[in-house]
Amino acid sequence: MSTREPLVLGIESSCDETGIGIVRGAQLLSNTISSSMEEHVRFGGVIPEIASRAHLDAMIPALKAALAEADITLDQVDAIAVTAGPGLAGALMVGVSAAKALAIATGKPLYGINHLVAHVGVGLLEDNGTEDGSDLLANAGSGGLGALLVSGGHTEILQVRDITSDVRLLGATLDDAAGEAYDKVARLLGLDYPGGPAIDRAAAEGNRNAFVFPRGLSNRKFMGTAEEPGAHRYDFSFSGLKTAVARVIESFEAAGEEVPVADIAASFQEAVVDVITKKAMLACREQGMKTLLLGGGVAANSRLRELLAARCASEGVRLIIPKFTLCTDNGAMVAALGARLVAAGREPSGVDFTTDSSLPVTTVCF
Ligand code: KG4
Ligand code: ZN
Repeated sequence: MSTREPLVLGIESSCDETGIGIVRGAQLLSNTISSSMEEHVRFGGVIPEIASRAHLDAMIPALKAALAEADITLDQVDAIAVTAGPGLAGALMVGVSAAKALAIATGKPLYGINHLVAHVGVGLLEDNGTEDGSDLLANAGSGGLGALLVSGGHTEILQVRDITSDVRLLGATLDDAAGEAYDKVARLLGLDYPGGPAIDRAAAEGNRNAFVFPRGLSNRKFMGTAEEPGAHRYDFSFSGLKTAVARVIESFEAAGEEVPVADIAASFQEAVVDVITKKAMLACREQGMKTLLLGGGVAANSRLRELLAARCASEGVRLIIPKFTLCTDNGAMVAALGARLVAAGREPSGVDFTTDSSLPVTTVCF
């Protein structure tokens, strides 16, 4: 790797992870993550105000640790990139304020970038989960790279033909994110937060066919056909599923019977994973995407990995799952996208942009 590749510092603070990453082009130099997850446990979900305060406390120590690990000083950096949206407004504000302060103090160019597109930035790194570290975007073909992002904050299918200028949102959740559905259902079942790992564990002991739970937006009215796609062909909805689980639990309780936690967990998990993988495969087939990158915390789910791998294999889609610290929110993905923007000669954002908690994927960078 040439040392003339841009050296970029990335800052991520859109949810509960304070992430600082440093890359030189496609080479990852450091990736420091500080999570406030523990502080949200007793509330059963991320509390935005607590997350913002935690970012404030973690930002400078994380920055120092990342610089030390990469063995560089701030003045060696060519540019700074920061997540400007989408995400929690107050949380984003902490990262963006820190990035602006650093940019003003050092005179370095600043890029305010899109968090969802940054998840795909992991695919640009040498450490992207492929055997040979090849650039997933350069090798994606005309249909572009598909990305399936599944976390506590988002559930999206993206199509990326050019990461600096051509990103499409093919599908997204209309209500809860998949991880959020896991967290809410875990609570209904009396399992711990975060609910994903708890349900994953409980489901291992259960029968996934014990209950048939709804697969949201899967009927013809929403899906349409390949020739005449419906408005929600690649979209998701998990609120009906959560309600269906609640009804089943209530019916056992009303009858004075023990709630079959493992069977409900396994059947719920099957409904989530079935609909996500089906729609992702449909998007890959219809949009000509031959490679699919998985991202987000739910990428840890054993059944999602199993079913997605099986369906990708039968569709002829190459599935890439980066290591877990690069799947969840981190600064390295922000830095990786920043480095690509610098290399593409993209104008920096300056310091006048504001955060946008619902920033569309079409805005890769301010
Ligand atoms: O990407 P992530 O760490 O950040 C946020 O979205 O904040 O994702 C966290 C989400 C949580 O909702 C958690 O329940 C879910 O990922 N998760 C899982 C598993 N591990 C974490 N969901 C299903 N199965 C898992 N094994
Ligand atoms: Zn994310």
